[in-house]
Amino acid sequence: MNDETKTDPWAGFARGWFMLRFSDELEAGQVVPLRRFDRELVLFRTASGEAKVLDAYCPHMGAHLGHGGKIVGEGIVCPFHAWKFDGTGKCIEIPYAKRIPPKAGLSCWPVRERNGMIFVWHDREKSEPDWEIPVLEEWEDPEFLPWRHAKLQIKTPPLAIAENLADAGHFIPVHNTHPVPGSFSNTYADHIGEQKIKAIAYPVHGGKDEFESKATYYGPAYQVTKMFGKGLGVIINAHTPIDAENVMLRFAVSMKATKGMTDELIEHFINNMRDGYLQDVQIWENKIYLDRPMLCDGDGPIGEFRRWYAQFYTPRNEAADAAE
Ligand code: FES
Ligand SMILES: [Fe+2]
Repeated sequence: MNDETKTDPWAGFARGWFMLRFSDELEAGQVVPLRRFDRELVLFRTASGEAKVLDAYCPHMGAHLGHGGKIVGEGIVCPFHAWKFDGTGKCIEIPYAKRIPPKAGLSCWPVRERNGMIFVWHDREKSEPDWEIPVLEEWEDPEFLPWRHAKLQIKTPPLAIAENLADAGHFIPVHNTHPVPGSFSNTYADHIGEQKIKAIAYPVHGGKDEFESKATYYGPAYQVTKMFGKGLGVIINAHTPIDAENVMLRFAVSMKATKGMTDELIEHFINNMRDGYLQDVQIWENKIYLDRPMLCDGDGPIGEFRRWYAQFYTPRNEAADAAE
């Protein structure tokens, strides 16, 4: 078997929750066309504030609901002939017809809004979610500042981003962060992958910070990193595939504004966290995927990571069998 005949284990898109936007990027009544998972989708927020995601193309004559669709109450009205669909995708009104075709509807995607973010569930098998995005205590804590967030489209396979979790060797060259020997660890259980490390950082904007961090992936594409150092910080790293080659990264930082901390110091920490993350981005954007990386002792558990990550690309019944 050569490279051309081998099946790509990462073909298609993973199963799990994927972030589409931060909550403050979608107002009530707003309609957004989105290309994700190589499909056309429409994301909208109803009048009462519910975020919804439907397949974009109208079953009537194929108009794209994301381009000119209007929110009326809890539903969305097609820009072409004004058929109205509710948040589940069912057609509930045709202004000029006496009878609605019984099958008139659009596929509806499971959505959750948690921690100031909107997530959609992607599953090739179209099954319901089997786990939930946990509530982030820092998001509920009024002492933590609101998310400062940004987005970036990059051309890289999703695995390249997530694999960072197991990468013990990149801290010094990429981040000028020096791990305490023996402090790097990974644990993998069900859909949760976790990295812990203690280190001394010499960040981009100066200073020196001894810190511990816990970086947790919930599923294949949403990571929460908690930093415990001079300041308490949280970094969100989420990616969502646009198509087979491109992903949309969304990231955010927040920190606890404890007493005595000046605005200047907060700004300094936040800039360091953001620019530390961008150091990873620069590598992801330009690297290639190696099916068989040439690993050495001192590298993190890349193989263990890939076995854990493969569950999201495996049909659910097979993933369960593999775990037994
Ligand atoms: S194409 Fe949507 S109502 Fe006709
Ligand atoms: Fe990194």
